[in-house]
This record gives sequence, C-alpha cells and structure tokens, in this order.
Amino acid sequence: MRHLLEIDDLSVAELTEILQLSSSTEGAQPLAGLGMALLFEKPSARTRNSMEMAVVQLGGHPLTIRPDEVGLDTRETVEDVVRTLGRYHALIGARVFEHTKLERAVAVSEVPIVNMLSDEAHPLQGLADVLTLADAFGGVDSLAGRAVAYVGDGNNVARSLALATGMLGMAVRIASPEGYAMSEADQARVRAAGVELVCTDDPVAACAGVDAVYTDVWTSMGQEEEAVERRRAFAGFTVTDALLDSAASEVVFLHCLPAHRGEEVTDAVLEGSRSRVWAQAENRMHAARGALRWLMENR
Ligand code: CP
Ligand code: NVA
Repeated sequence: MRHLLEIDDLSVAELTEILQLSSSTEGAQPLAGLGMALLFEKPSARTRNSMEMAVVQLGGHPLTIRPDEVGLDTRETVEDVVRTLGRYHALIGARVFEHTKLERAVAVSEVPIVNMLSDEAHPLQGLADVLTLADAFGGVDSLAGRAVAYVGDGNNVARSLALATGMLGMAVRIASPEGYAMSEADQARVRAAGVELVCTDDPVAACAGVDAVYTDVWTSMGQEEEAVERRRAFAGFTVTDALLDSAASEVVFLHCLPAHRGEEVTDAVLEGSRSRVWAQAENRMHAARGALRWLMENR
C-alpha cells in the first residue's frame, strides 16, 4: 500500500503517471460506494474543495472533519483516530501542524494516507504546480531544462515545489531572507532526489532568466504571532512586475494562494497577464483526482 506524504515518496515515473491520470478525462469511478475522510487542523479553501470534488468525481463520498470534531491527540490519539476511520473509509487525508502526525498515521493505517499540508510539505500543491507549468509550456516533457525561482519562506510549499519541478528536470532556485531559508536537511533531501537546487538571499539573482516565478505567504498558518517580525524580515522579497521583467520573456507567475496582496506579491502581478494562479487553483482538483486514482490503483 502506498501513501502520499511528500513528492519524493514517488519515483519520477510514478510522478509522471499521476500527472497523466490528472489530465485524463476518462470517467473511472474507483471510489464508487467508498468514502474519504478529510481531517483538518487548519483552515482551507482550495484543499478542502478540490479534494471533496475529486472524491465526488471518482464516485466516492468525501467527509470533511474539523479539528474540534475529532481532536487529533486531544480527544484521542492520532493512531486511534486513523485505525477507526480506516474501517469506514478507503482513504484518509489530513492537514496537520506537525508532519510527524502523518508519519504516525502511516505507521498504523490500513488505508492510504494523503498529506493535505503539514509544516514540512504540501505534495498535492506540488502536483498542481507542475500540472500548471506543463499546461503553460506544452506538456510534462517540456519542463526539463527550464528553471523556476521561488521567492519567500523556504518551508512546506517550497519543498514540495522544488521536488516536483526538480524531479521533472527543472532547475530550482530559492531566494529567502536570512533565517528563513530552506533548512540544510531539506536542501539535502531535495538534492538527494536528483534536483539541481540553488539557495540564495538575492531574489533578483534567483529570478534572472527563469521560466516561472513562485511565491507563498510570508506568515504561514499557525505563525500569526510572528507576522510583524516576518514583514520586516521579508521586506524586499515582494514579487513585483519589475522582478518578473528580469525573468524569461514568457515567464509565468504562480502562487499556491491564499495571497496577501502587497506583501509577498503585488496586486498587479497577481492580476497581470503572466499570472496563472486561477488555473493553478483549478489544477488542485485535477491533481487530487490523479493522486487518488493512483493511490487506489496501488493499494
Ligand atoms: N493552496 C492551498 O492549500 O490553499 P488552502 O489553504 O485554501 O487549502
Ligand atoms: N505556507 C502556507 C501555505 C498555505 C497553502 C501555510 O503553511 O500556511
């Protein structure tokens, strides 16, 4: 049985297969008569809606569970929740603060576990990101040899993006202010997946000539108390039209959303002709459908 906690749980061939399944319009219904439990410790617009609709499109029943309803490690342990829900559902998705909760879930689960965002990774976002880049540049095969720059906090979204794009042959550059760079351990993990990765504190150098520029919020969910300090630290890391002008002429702009306009990205960039963020948001649903189909085929 396979789980999806991070993109490098997959081989390059498996990643490519999921992207093919995501693009497929074939009406396969592997979840007919089955359910998927979707556990959330944090808010969500895209993940919840894209996952629920992906489950419906595969013939299944999604059941979203809010934090106060189950209480992972508060009302009962993660292990007990997972062993119980696995008796009703074919799949379990979870959005958690600590990634270790997902690893503990995997250790006891009788059904596939899907990471719907943790402090370390956001693999469903990474899948949607490469799907969007493939749409922009003419297919998955067109990505190798291109480059992507991520400007911002080197955390969950950056790691999954680096793995997904890099495993498909893109060069990855990450620009973060001092103290917010991708951890050495994560950099090593990304490079171990065969990814050509450069980390810098210079957004202009990172974006020079690249085919895609990506950013995410400066203050992730759960870090709200650090917002003022982070706004100070990330000053100069806003993605502006001037920064995009230093990239390739056909550059596309991506953002996982939600966006904080005026912080990590200007309103003009988000709404501009180079922005693909709404297609990217839609691709969350297609990517989720592909990932769930693949997990059901590999149980
Ligand atoms: N990009 C993303 O995961 O959005 P939500 O937090 O709204 O699910
Ligand atoms: N880095 C952000 C991503 C939100 C989709 C967070 O963890 O809140």
